Amino acid sequence: MADDDLEARPPRVLPQVPRWQSLRNSLKLAADPIGALGAIHARYGDTARLYIGGVQPSVLTRDPGLVQHVLQKNHRNYAKSAFTRGFSRYIGHGLLTNDGPDWLRQRRLVQPGFHRQRVAGLAGLMQEIVADALGPLARQAAQNGGAVAVPAHALMTRLTFRIIARSVFSTSFAEAELDRLARLLTEIQAFFVGTIRQPYLNWWRRLRGRFRYHDALTAELRALLGRYIAQRQAASAAPGAPAPPPDDLLQMLLDARYEDSGEPMAPARVLDEALILLVAGHETSANALTWLLYLLARHPAEARAIQAETAAVLGPRAPTFADLPRLGRALYAVQETMRLYPPAWMVDRVALADDDYEGLRIPKGTLFSLYLYGLHHDPRHWDEPAEFRPARFAPDAPRPLAPFAYAPFGGGPRLCVGLQFALTEMQLVAVELLRKFEVEWPAGQPPVAGQPLITLRPRGDFDVRLRLR
Ligand code: HEM
Repeated sequence: MADDDLEARPPRVLPQVPRWQSLRNSLKLAADPIGALGAIHARYGDTARLYIGGVQPSVLTRDPGLVQHVLQKNHRNYAKSAFTRGFSRYIGHGLLTNDGPDWLRQRRLVQPGFHRQRVAGLAGLMQEIVADALGPLARQAAQNGGAVAVPAHALMTRLTFRIIARSVFSTSFAEAELDRLARLLTEIQAFFVGTIRQPYLNWWRRLRGRFRYHDALTAELRALLGRYIAQRQAASAAPGAPAPPPDDLLQMLLDARYEDSGEPMAPARVLDEALILLVAGHETSANALTWLLYLLARHPAEARAIQAETAAVLGPRAPTFADLPRLGRALYAVQETMRLYPPAWMVDRVALADDDYEGLRIPKGTLFSLYLYGLHHDPRHWDEPAEFRPARFAPDAPRPLAPFAYAPFGGGPRLCVGLQFALTEMQLVAVELLRKFEVEWPAGQPPVAGQPLITLRPRGDFDVRLRLR
């Protein structure tokens, strides 16, 4: 298009959800965000202005082109929002909460720790932890007529926390300390979400000392991790250190050197980045795996297809990292699960300067709510989007035409740094679980709804029955 055509084109005006309606919607939004946002898109189209909680102006979009513009094409103009920055009070200034040149410097340092080869090195550890979790369940099932009912979210939360904690910190924490760490993280996050969702209660929280209490929990969390990091540093610096340090993600952070100065990270930064890995790498994978269990229990034919492929490729042996490319069915099931239930269901950004997207004027300060769940459920990109069909992700299946119609790990330079780690972990769990068990849906248990908090988790836990094969 010629420049004067562009100039002649009138600016696009976005539909505005009226403030009174946003206010009325804010209760609906708190109770059922996915239903409420779906209704807004149905009425106002792919992109609309609304007031979050009736007060905060925001642009909600499920337009893949606009999502790509914000996350990738003009990413330099978009920073994390105040919501995310507020989280750093509790989880520090690591990759997830950082921005600008400092983020880039840190990202360059941390990213090599997640390359394929490093993840391959962690796959054995992942498998040990999966075996430790499934072994006792197999024994219980054997004593119980061949099957055991387990709460899916609790199982996956414990499993993924152990995987990420041991990948970062090896075997250094005792079981009781790991449980304490997990409890601290859960409590702190739940509190933070509350302060964002119901900000009008913050005066009450302050009055009751809830902020002080959670600041103290944060201090305890940092002290716990800090003590361990200092011990590790002291051990590797000691003359004639007895054994090589463990090959874990913490060691990667300690050994990394800035390109420009050749210096290592300051200890407080190592702590920030290690803590971010625990936070970012835990709940997301736990929720994806919980939904995977849910879907496999409700679609036994898909579980059988994974079992058949696994038997054909592996015979009776356990998978190694090198086998994973030949175990595609498990991977497609994981990918399709994250389409239906993207753990990061909404990503936010704020415009640093005025911008333009296809005639849409974006003033400095615009807050974007990039609605990944909406993208993944749009019938223009996905045939029968509510159906669980892992074969959509087979290499010969048609792909959606819009590049950002599927973005469970985000996109652009801030694409999830743990993508390869997470896919490996989830594929291994799926294969190992289905090698040992049939996954059954207990008769009479109602279907499970999603509860979108920071991540999309199930509303309450649910059981699956694991039957020994
Ligand atoms: C199913 C699992 C996971 C999902 C769905 C997921 C999703 C995402 C998404 C959508 C982002 C981008 C957020 C944004 O742009 O604002 C992100 C960033 C990030 N993720 Fe993940 N993630 C997963 C697992 C992991 C794991 C296992 C780790 C670590 C081991 C991890 C570490 C991170 C970090 C550090 C960032 C920030 C990257 C940056 O901004 O440079 N994630 N993740």
